[in-house]
Amino acid sequence: MKFFIDTADLDEITALTETGMINGVTTNPSLIAKSGRPFLELIADICQAVTGPVSAEVTAIDAPTMINEGRKLAAIAENVAVKVPLTEDGLIACKTLSDAGTMVNVTLCFSAAQAILAAKAGATFVSPFVGRLDDLGQDGIALIEDICDIYANFPNFTTEILVASVRGPQHVVDAAKMGADIVTMPPDALRQLFQHPLTDKGLQAFLSDWARTGQSIL
Ligand code: G3P
Repeated sequence: MKFFIDTADLDEITALTETGMINGVTTNPSLIAKSGRPFLELIADICQAVTGPVSAEVTAIDAPTMINEGRKLAAIAENVAVKVPLTEDGLIACKTLSDAGTMVNVTLCFSAAQAILAAKAGATFVSPFVGRLDDLGQDGIALIEDICDIYANFPNFTTEILVASVRGPQHVVDAAKMGADIVTMPPDALRQLFQHPLTDKGLQAFLSDWARTGQSIL
C-alpha cells in the first residue's frame, strides 16, 4: 500500500519524506492557496523533493483549457500527475492526457458510478473523498469497498484507488482492509499513525529501568 501526503507545504513534505513512508504528494487549489507560493514554481520544487507522483490540479472547467493547463503542468517534471475534476469535461481531458502518456488523477469522486467512468477514461488514479462523505452522514469507506469490488471484476481497469479526504488513522486502516492502492493524508494524520499511548508508556518504563542499571550501550 502506498502513502501520499496531502499538502503543499514543502517543509512538511521534506520532513516526512525522511520517514521513508511517503510515495507521492497530492495538492489541490485550496492547499496551493494556503501555501502562499506561485503554483508552477512550488510544483517544480515538490517534484524535486520526492520521487513519486505529485498531483497538480487544473483550474479550468472546460475540456480544451483543462488539456492545455494539463500539458503545461505535465511539462514541469516527469512525476507530475495532472489532477482533473470528475466532470464530463474533466473526463474528456483525462482521456486525452492519458492517451498522450500523462499521469492523470481524477479527483472529487463521490460515487462508484463516477469511479467506473474514471477507469474507462484511463485515469492513473481516482480519488474518492471519504471524509467529506462521512461529514454528510454517509459512509465514505463503504464507497471504497464498492470501488475495490468493482475494479476487481475488470482486470483491464488499471486505475489505482487513491483514498482522499482522510481524517485519521481509522480511515487508513479501513482503506487498507478494503485493498485500496493508495491513501493520501494530511501530515498530522500521517504522524498519528506512529502514535499509541501504550508505546509511550512502555518506552518510558523501559528507559527508566535501563537508567537504573547504570549501563550504556555505546
Ligand atoms: O486533496 C483532496 C482531499 O484529500 C481533500 O481533503 O480534507 O479537504 O476533504 P479535505
